[in-house]
Amino acid sequence: MNGPLKVALLGCGTVGSAVLRLLQDQAGEFAARIGRPVEVVGVAVRRPQHHPDVPQHLLTTDAHALVTREDVDLVVEVIGGIEPARSLMLAAFEAGKSVVSANKALLAEDGVALHAAAAKAGVDLYYEAAVAGAIPILRPLRESLAGDQLSRVVGIVNGTTNYILSRMAETGAGFGEALAEATELGYAEADPTADVDGFDAAAKAAILASLAFHTPVSAADVYREGISTVTATDVSRAAEIGCTVKLLAICERVTGEDGSDSVAVRVHPAMIPTTHPLASVSGAFNAVFVEAVAAGQLMFYGQGAGGEPTASAVLGDLVAVARNRLAGAAGQGPSGYADLAVRPMAETPTRYHVSLDVADKPGVLAAVALEFAQHGVSISTVRQTGRGDAATLVIVTHSAPDAALSATIAALREMPAVRGVTSVLRVEGLS
Ligand code: HSE
Repeated sequence: MNGPLKVALLGCGTVGSAVLRLLQDQAGEFAARIGRPVEVVGVAVRRPQHHPDVPQHLLTTDAHALVTREDVDLVVEVIGGIEPARSLMLAAFEAGKSVVSANKALLAEDGVALHAAAAKAGVDLYYEAAVAGAIPILRPLRESLAGDQLSRVVGIVNGTTNYILSRMAETGAGFGEALAEATELGYAEADPTADVDGFDAAAKAAILASLAFHTPVSAADVYREGISTVTATDVSRAAEIGCTVKLLAICERVTGEDGSDSVAVRVHPAMIPTTHPLASVSGAFNAVFVEAVAAGQLMFYGQGAGGEPTASAVLGDLVAVARNRLAGAAGQGPSGYADLAVRPMAETPTRYHVSLDVADKPGVLAAVALEFAQHGVSISTVRQTGRGDAATLVIVTHSAPDAALSATIAALREMPAVRGVTSVLRVEGLS
């Protein structure tokens, strides 16, 4: 009973190799913190020849055999993607092993079934590294804030897009130019779709919402828009009203007119005031801003990607599941007892910032205002700047159902007096 706890490592890319190195370098610390040494007994990879730094006797291409090996206690999954990660995780649970994972796509797609499989086997499934890299946010939501009621969780959870938007704000560059720079510097992948189109952030939003609201939310429930349509004009218009543009993952509890609660989960670019704590998160950093009834506002900030930062979260989970294992118990999994309905985006209250090029003549402002009124949208502020016979109108609305706002924009585009709708972005965090 006093031998080392044996770990199977699935995947040895940037994160896996950092996990392996840190486990070896700090072996004494891990043994002291857990109460038993930890030993990696196998590393499953697709191409062993690509891993000359890993002791060759540890490498295997047979991941299934490794996770079901009788002497393995814990499995660390850092392969990513849906398959074979899902099958391997299920095989590990069935064989009685706890799993630590960094796999946001899999947890966001199939979290309920995976948690059920872990619970049935009496083992742990921990995945702190799946959301916002090094930042401890999932365990705070699940444990530290378990005595509070959460109303909103708003995150900048994708470093690639935050880098691109930060550069657009700093340099006045357009999206294409800023993306090219991010690719050249290695912030954006060769195929940036998952980041730029918001898929990565949507998976993370689903995981955050599930934990925050005790409600199963999958990636398919998340409304998603990416940043490729954000223009230099959007960014400069934001600056003019004291805002900055961020790709936000917004998870909120919404009370309907009938008093029933639902959750709204969305990922889209939005203007936020430069005084908001999330506005100061620049470059590739991540942050998650939490609003809770008793705690008030909290913010978690740090590195959202990279080998060592992500390995820090993986290893924190490894220590937790190893301690649970030695205690002969599994930790408490997430609860889905509230099982709130997911509110469609069309019915979710949002606010818009709209810039219009219009003819500068009597009745135009009245006609534009009427279009908002006819869609039941209340205007908060209007600013006009004149240019000869033309003018720019900048309108910020009050909150209204998103469908009413988007229908208003469609109607404005058809108005003869409106020469062009030059910028449309949602606004968050304005009082
Ligand atoms: N690609 C992600 C990002 C990191 O740009 O933040 C991993 O989720």
